[in-house]
Amino acid sequence: MRIGSSVIAMKIVLIGAGGTLGTAVHSALTARGHDVVTVGRSAGDLRLDFTEPEQVTELYERVGRVDAVACAAGSVPWRKITEMTPQQYLDAFRGKVASQVELVRQGVGRIAERGSFTLITGVLTREPVVTGTAASLANGAVEAFVRAAAIEIAPQRVNAVSPTVFTESLAAYGNLFTGMEAVDVAKAAQAYVRSVEGAQTGQVYAL
Ligand SMILES: NC(=O)c1ccc[n+]([C@@H]2O[C@H](COP(=O)([O-])OP(=O)(O)OC[C@H]3O[C@@H](n4cnc5c(N)ncnc54)[C@H](OP(=O)(O)O)[C@@H]3O)[C@@H](O)[C@H]2O)c1
Repeated sequence: MRIGSSVIAMKIVLIGAGGTLGTAVHSALTARGHDVVTVGRSAGDLRLDFTEPEQVTELYERVGRVDAVACAAGSVPWRKITEMTPQQYLDAFRGKVASQVELVRQGVGRIAERGSFTLITGVLTREPVVTGTAASLANGAVEAFVRAAAIEIAPQRVNAVSPTVFTESLAAYGNLFTGMEAVDVAKAAQAYVRSVEGAQTGQVYAL
């Protein structure tokens, strides 16, 4: 006996598809039979900077109607508070918060009636590290946005994936995450599959 329905192929836009996380998310979604449109500044089906609101408009105009938007991009400055400038906190907001908010704000009227958004945050919301105030702030803001937006956009859905450091990224982060458990990026990618194919909304999938 088969329990549950089979997968219905979707058209999905993936921002940051060429990165460590994005590559794994791309593999996981295409393995499920979905049609994934890849987006990045220097590589991808569409080349644009999603921190520019007018380029998000261009993204939606060029891609047409999609069933899901998944984001695996977003950057913040890493510095101690005493070394951060006011502008760098604004850069963090622009790089990871306003950019992802814009995908939802502009996308609500454009994606499928029961479509979904999957955003990226990270462990620093709940487990801070030195030099990570901007990252913690940005991640927390996105998670709060996800919970709030979910109650407004139904039956469309929005979730966040909030992974700890990836096993594959440990070397790049040096001693920043020493002693903290890492997660394989393939596991984080499965949370995107869960968000895109599932029925939940307003969730933060902590890994
Ligand atoms: N690495 C980790 O251990 C880890 C753990 C938890 C959470 N995260 C979060 O996961 C996200 C991705 O991390 P990652 O390690 O996979 O990063 P990454 O390897 O640097 O990949 C980022 C991808 O996003 C694209 N991108 C960056 N800025 C963009 C922009 N403004 N517009 C369009 N595309 C853009 C990049 O391509 P282009 O340069 O060509 O644009 C690249 O393909 C980040 O938000 C990070 O905070 C990472």
